[in-house]
Amino acid sequence: MEIHTDAVIVGSGIAGLYSALKLPEDMKVVLITKSDLESSDSFLAQGGICVQRDEEDYDSYFEDTMKAGHYENRRESVDIMIRGSRAVIRDLVGYGVRFEQENGEFIYTREGAHSRPRILFHEDITGKEITSTLLERVKELANVTIYEYTEMTDIIEENGACAGILAGKADGPDQEQRETLKIYADHTILASGGIGGNYQHSTNFPHLTGDAVRIAKAHGIRLENLDYVQIHPTTLYSLKPGRRFLISESVRGEGAVLYNHKKERFVDELLPRDVVAQAIREQMEEEGTDHVWLSMEPIPREKILKHFPNIYRHCLEEGYDVTKEWIPVVPAQHYFMGGIWVDSDSHTSMDRLYAVGETSCNGVHGANRLASNSLLESLVFAGRAAEKIKEDKESGLI
Ligand code: SIN
Repeated sequence: MEIHTDAVIVGSGIAGLYSALKLPEDMKVVLITKSDLESSDSFLAQGGICVQRDEEDYDSYFEDTMKAGHYENRRESVDIMIRGSRAVIRDLVGYGVRFEQENGEFIYTREGAHSRPRILFHEDITGKEITSTLLERVKELANVTIYEYTEMTDIIEENGACAGILAGKADGPDQEQRETLKIYADHTILASGGIGGNYQHSTNFPHLTGDAVRIAKAHGIRLENLDYVQIHPTTLYSLKPGRRFLISESVRGEGAVLYNHKKERFVDELLPRDVVAQAIREQMEEEGTDHVWLSMEPIPREKILKHFPNIYRHCLEEGYDVTKEWIPVVPAQHYFMGGIWVDSDSHTSMDRLYAVGETSCNGVHGANRLASNSLLESLVFAGRAAEKIKEDKESGLI
């Protein structure tokens, strides 16, 4: 089947959804997703979303992001993300996203390598709150057609430019459309997430296997930092197969501490992610064990139940009451800092092709992402892709 549309978006995480919301409503948009609409990593994000709290916060937020990224970050991208953060949060609130507040003021939490609390959150399911709200808004749009269980198999290249994508049926329930879809589009936005599905132990959904990066490589599209993969220090240790359950870094931001099997603390828990993950790995090697311990005892029980109900519930189901006992934790693959190279408008090296979210690399995270910068970065740079497409349309460029 052939479809002709103004824009096609590959992926239904926050980067894809926000792109759809920000494109002009007089554009016809097709959005495909490899699984169901709720199985994106954006839904899983626990800790929260960073925001520049006030003018004075700019320098320290910039420095925290650069330092965590080993100063390999693209400075222009960091600047764009931080300066765009307040507008994005206002926009999210306008769409109906709820962040924790007290007396009408936002409450901020903290995670590793942040020099001050600057993370907005919704319990410990911030990603679900944001993504499900954006999804509701997208479903209200008459100009957006969604295909679930549909995976991109290639892009359509014409005269060196992208003219759309080829797609086929992905694993999932039976659906009418089984034949190859040829989706011709003036603009293509790749928003298909990370690579965790290629790892045995990852916090990501297994269907997220870096398809866009593989296809981009085959077409000679510029890629960047493919070896920059983030390992999250704390996932719940389990012998069961499947996705690893994240124990949010904000738990440590609120006071939780790590212990080895000798019941000794061995690292400052609020150092950058890569440093803490490495320290845990060294402990495990030294002690010949396959996990370390995380204690949430320093956090008052009421706070655990209010701020971390999802973690509390999940651990209880796995046999651990985090208000009373330590839990075994182990590092696991979590995030991909590299990806398809894009400029500051999220445009790739191929004409009419954009990439946003985890599949793209605008260099904002450098070699190691600062906690809770991923949702923000996705939104800021997805918004810029949509804005650039709108400008090109208005100026008659395409
Ligand atoms: C977490 O809550 O620890 C994960 C948030 C993130 O990946 O930044």
